[in-house]
Amino acid sequence: MHLLVTGGAGFIGSNFVRLALQHLPDARVIVLDALTYAGNLSTLNDVSSNPHFRFYPGKIQDPVVVEGIIKAEGITHIVNFAAESHNDRSILHAGSFIETDVLGVYVLLEATRKFKLERMLHVSTDEVYGSIDEGHFTEQSPIEPNTPYSASKAGGDLQIRAHVKAFGTPALITRGGNTYGPYQFPEKLIPFFVTRLMDGKKVPVYGEGNQVREWIHAMDHAGGVLHTLLHGEPGQVYNVGDVNERPNHEVVKILLEETGRDESLIKRIPDPRKGAHDKRYSMSADKLRGLGWAPTHPFEESLRATVRWYRDRQDWWRPLISTDDFQAFIARFYGPSLGEDL
Ligand code: DAU
Repeated sequence: MHLLVTGGAGFIGSNFVRLALQHLPDARVIVLDALTYAGNLSTLNDVSSNPHFRFYPGKIQDPVVVEGIIKAEGITHIVNFAAESHNDRSILHAGSFIETDVLGVYVLLEATRKFKLERMLHVSTDEVYGSIDEGHFTEQSPIEPNTPYSASKAGGDLQIRAHVKAFGTPALITRGGNTYGPYQFPEKLIPFFVTRLMDGKKVPVYGEGNQVREWIHAMDHAGGVLHTLLHGEPGQVYNVGDVNERPNHEVVKILLEETGRDESLIKRIPDPRKGAHDKRYSMSADKLRGLGWAPTHPFEESLRATVRWYRDRQDWWRPLISTDDFQAFIARFYGPSLGEDL
């Protein structure tokens, strides 16, 4: 297998690269990553000297780059993690989301068809289903995205559906839940709060913090994607979830405990996502479990280990939060509500 992992320098992608090199000893793992603010080569330091690994910088929406790598490396399979993925940024500006998450998927599909690749797996999100008050989303649930980010991911998913129907392209989709673990860029709830709490800064909880998310560890998510690549059926969708639902305030409480801080550092702010803030995510992953996959990371213990990872790896995240891009985003998005607590 000559595997092209797009977005492999990002959070879930880099965890997948580690897992693939470990579990597929005969495979070559080729990473293509645009190294935007959320993709970082230092994330792959530990695998960079592996002879089965190779890195290319570039965008998935550039067909010249994608086709060049497919030819040069004899690619047989693609797994696409490349995405703009932060809901809050998509509320400020959705253009880059449409370029990467919709156009990028189209370019990968066309390349898969043109070079008759064996398989293209697209990593998507449970957010394409929208919000659910009771019960669980299944792969048959309607697509009802509520944010510019989730709408762009849904656009990619629908491109795949159409390509499978129109051309028989051997593409398939995974839809994952909220993911936590090492190497997550510190803008999402868990790493954003952990890094601020370590510095004694206040953390901005949207509203009352009653929204419910279904959390899965990055290595379990990566394992679900690998299992789907090896055992899934082209044309199918597989949910990758851990039936582990927590309201945000409960997650924040664990983060406060593990960083040795107290509730005085919580600042409830008016919800910046407004009507686009999904209340609850919950998925059934029975279809993938039926193929023999199961997550193995217990939530609370693994979340505490993640906090300790951020404490130990300040060399990794401090440079990321000191960039002009990150500071400008934080000031623009949180400035009005955090004020002097920014
Ligand atoms: O469900 C899968 C999705 O999970 C992925 O597709 C997305 O790429 C990923 O970002 C995540 O989406 P969320 O919007 O749920 O993740 P986020 O960490 O941004 O927010 C989690 C919850 O925490 C959400 O209810 C909003 C809340 N929140 C978030 C931030 C950043 C706060 O209360 N304060 C914050 O500062």
